[in-house]
Amino acid sequence: MEREEAWDLLTKHLKNQNLLKHCIACEVIMQFLARHWGEDEQEWALAGLLHDIDYEETKDNPTEHGRRGAKILKEAGLSEKVIRAVEAHNPLATFVEPEFPIEKALYAVDPVSGFIVACALVHPDKKLDSLDLSFLLHRFSEKSFARGANREAMKSIESLGLSLEEFLSIALSAMQSKKEELGL
Ligand SMILES: [Fe+2]
Repeated sequence: MEREEAWDLLTKHLKNQNLLKHCIACEVIMQFLARHWGEDEQEWALAGLLHDIDYEETKDNPTEHGRRGAKILKEAGLSEKVIRAVEAHNPLATFVEPEFPIEKALYAVDPVSGFIVACALVHPDKKLDSLDLSFLLHRFSEKSFARGANREAMKSIESLGLSLEEFLSIALSAMQSKKEELGL
């Protein structure tokens, strides 16, 4: 599926602008990670863009989050690889554990995107361009900061042989490359 078609599909299901920005952030981080490892950039980016497609429809029924998304994506003809990654980003509901690289990456990318947004918002300039690795690492170690951003999930990227420092650097560069769309 081409990006434009994926975007149309996504915006049919999601209306909240912050949620759409979150999807764009995950898309670009997944793309940068795929490039880093020589994986399929288009496929990884699609998994990032579409992973929360059912979010608004399942918000009162979180045990469906990931399941319904997989169904929507199956009907739309997305690849099995993308569909499994979407299921595995919420293993508590789908019982699909992240196993393949695209799945493990998405599982760690989901919280890191929110974490970096939270870092930008507490920075005096509120700009992605003003952040650096040491700022991110300091906030990472502050347990009370952005509690919703699961540190264990972010650190699980190490199972793919990437250090937390490298992961945060790649994720930050990725998001900086989309700063206009992200409005930060
Ligand atoms: Fe997400």
